[in-house]
Amino acid sequence: MSVMVFDSGIGGLTVLREARVLMPDRRFIYVADDAAFPYGDWEEAELRERMTGLFGDLIAEWKPEIIVIACNTASTLAIAHLREVYPGQTFVGTVPAIKPAAERTRSGLVSVLATPGTVRRQYTRDLIEEWASKCHVRLVGSTGLAALAESYMRGNMVDEAAVEKEIMPCFIEQDGKRTDIVVLACTHYPFLVNRMRKMAPWPVDWIDTSEAIARRAASLTEPLPTSRQKGEVQQEDAAVFTSGKPDALTAKLLRGFGLGVRSAPS
Ligand code: DGL
Repeated sequence: MSVMVFDSGIGGLTVLREARVLMPDRRFIYVADDAAFPYGDWEEAELRERMTGLFGDLIAEWKPEIIVIACNTASTLAIAHLREVYPGQTFVGTVPAIKPAAERTRSGLVSVLATPGTVRRQYTRDLIEEWASKCHVRLVGSTGLAALAESYMRGNMVDEAAVEKEIMPCFIEQDGKRTDIVVLACTHYPFLVNRMRKMAPWPVDWIDTSEAIARRAASLTEPLPTSRQKGEVQQEDAAVFTSGKPDALTAKLLRGFGLGVRSAPS
């Protein structure tokens, strides 16, 4: 029984690492649509069409028990559509944590840091209207952070000044109050949260939803027969990159995560 974790790149590994802790008896297939990275820049109709075709192939090949879309940009765009097109399949999505942020803020000033795609979505605006109408929510679309996170994960130095530039619009002072919560609404960002903390002009709560998503996915899986739980030999976890072959630094990172690289659907 496998759990598929999907993202445009390696950001979804933030969700994979939590999911593995909660579902140690499952095999994981990590899929990165890296040939199309970054999703944040795509036009909606084209991206939805691309994802629909790709999932057709992935479901046919891997027959996953559950698919976790570990990508806010993809979930806010396509999750409802994917559920319609593949009704037999269970999808767990990742959407900006606006509700918990609204419940937790004291100042009422909340920022949502995301890709330009997630910021543009009606889905995101509806979440704000439904759950955070009493707060002042600033949507901050970052064009560079996902790529900075990817580069950092591959072992390169982080340009802290670039991180600072991307996060600064999140920080607002208004009528003696300050932003106290920043929602990390892109699964790549938790990898950079320590740098963000360092470059932030004042301390805030950074909301990361990786664990909550993994918990949701775990709650939807069926318990396995006891023989499996007792450690029957299981197939290796795998990574599929739509570009065909991850570069050497990515391959090294994937090995560190215990993922064997498999070929992408053709
Ligand atoms: N990790 C993706 C997300 O959660 C976005 C990165 C991209 O732009 O492709 O939104």
